[in-house]
Amino acid sequence: MQRDSFLSDNCPPMGIYETLYAFHDSFGQFMGTTGTHPWSQGFPLTTQLEGGPPLPSRVEVTFEDRFYPKAWGHPRLREAIAAHYNGFYGSSIAPENVMVFAGGRPGIYAVLAYLKRHVEVRIGNAEWPAYLDIMTQTETSWRVVPFTEENGFHPPNSAYYDRTGLNHKTHLLPIISNPGNPTGHTRAGAELEELIDMAEQPGHGILLDEAYEMFHASKGVSGIRYVKDLDDSNVFLAGACTKGLQCPGIRIGWIIASRKNVETLSNYSSFGMGGVSHPSQLYAVELLEPSRVALAREAVERHFGMQRERYGAAFRDMGLGVFTGDGGFYHWLKLPDDLDAGELNRRLFRHGAAILEGTDCDMARPHAKDPAYVSPYRSWFRFSFGPLLPETFESDVALFGRVLEEYRADVAAGRAG
Ligand SMILES: Cc1ncc(COP(=O)(O)O)c(C=O)c1O
Repeated sequence: MQRDSFLSDNCPPMGIYETLYAFHDSFGQFMGTTGTHPWSQGFPLTTQLEGGPPLPSRVEVTFEDRFYPKAWGHPRLREAIAAHYNGFYGSSIAPENVMVFAGGRPGIYAVLAYLKRHVEVRIGNAEWPAYLDIMTQTETSWRVVPFTEENGFHPPNSAYYDRTGLNHKTHLLPIISNPGNPTGHTRAGAELEELIDMAEQPGHGILLDEAYEMFHASKGVSGIRYVKDLDDSNVFLAGACTKGLQCPGIRIGWIIASRKNVETLSNYSSFGMGGVSHPSQLYAVELLEPSRVALAREAVERHFGMQRERYGAAFRDMGLGVFTGDGGFYHWLKLPDDLDAGELNRRLFRHGAAILEGTDCDMARPHAKDPAYVSPYRSWFRFSFGPLLPETFESDVALFGRVLEEYRADVAAGRAG
């Protein structure tokens, strides 16, 4: 008999990885290899976009780069990140407001791991699957804000700060991906200004995840534009080189916060992380060169805006409900006739394709999969056009349409499981 494991029994893989593993078991190859259709995946194209800047192919490493890194990040990278925000959004943050992590996830994890007990998280019902895992593992308390067809998956800002039933001790920290994953809904302009104003009120804060900052018609959307006093706030902005800068593999992300909160995060780094790889940080400095980013902003919006538009039209023509906002690189879709997104996925696997099931994005579901739980997003799914080349549009749409039609025909004939 196998001995009892010392590690947690409640540590399943994040929903997107779960789809990856199920796909591999069914198709026998990893998603992303030639001949597969990575519609479930959250990575962008990692090759030069039309009209976009080239991606650096090397970085110089000196003996100093083999020293231990600074706990809070490489001084050159912290400066480049601060300049990135100040140059584009007119803010005046300092390098001391920047904490560098090995990607977006570790930064978000660290913020939640050190939340005080009286801080309660508010999160949209349909959000990025990793948040559910992170909130569970860090024992964060959270309540879900309704995301429904009726509110268009875009509740008002005030819904995140609703204090009904709370006593004065409870402080509120909404977590919002903006642009949203999986919905693409984006708070910008006056609506974002109002959100930040609420976040700066006493007893309030926000973790605004801006991983998809560049994927919006405005070519850049960040709450930093409206922050009045970062150093006297509990505003946390999460950013990364993962999406708009097209480099998920270098594992560079950051948290922008008050100097005091950055100090806490860097103290954590001193014993829990040991800083972040110098070669990766130096590569990120190259990526953030301002004239390069200016080109990237144009190219990202042009390419992904075009893909959002034409995939949306194709899905509408197939009879799907399209509930996507105006940002990101996902479509948020509803199957017709109460079809089941899990069953659709199993059928797609056989053709080397996969989507992300809506249930995985359900922040109210049990953490470990429970077959008895019926999610409101059973017929919903996320389709990613992030990694897709423009040339595969017709074949992707044709394959998706064929599998959907077969599924509908099987249901009509009573053959579907
Ligand atoms: C909402 C959201 N935040 C952050 C990230 C960044 O994750 P990482 O840099 O850890 O890959 C992602 C990537 O999928 C994301 O979708």
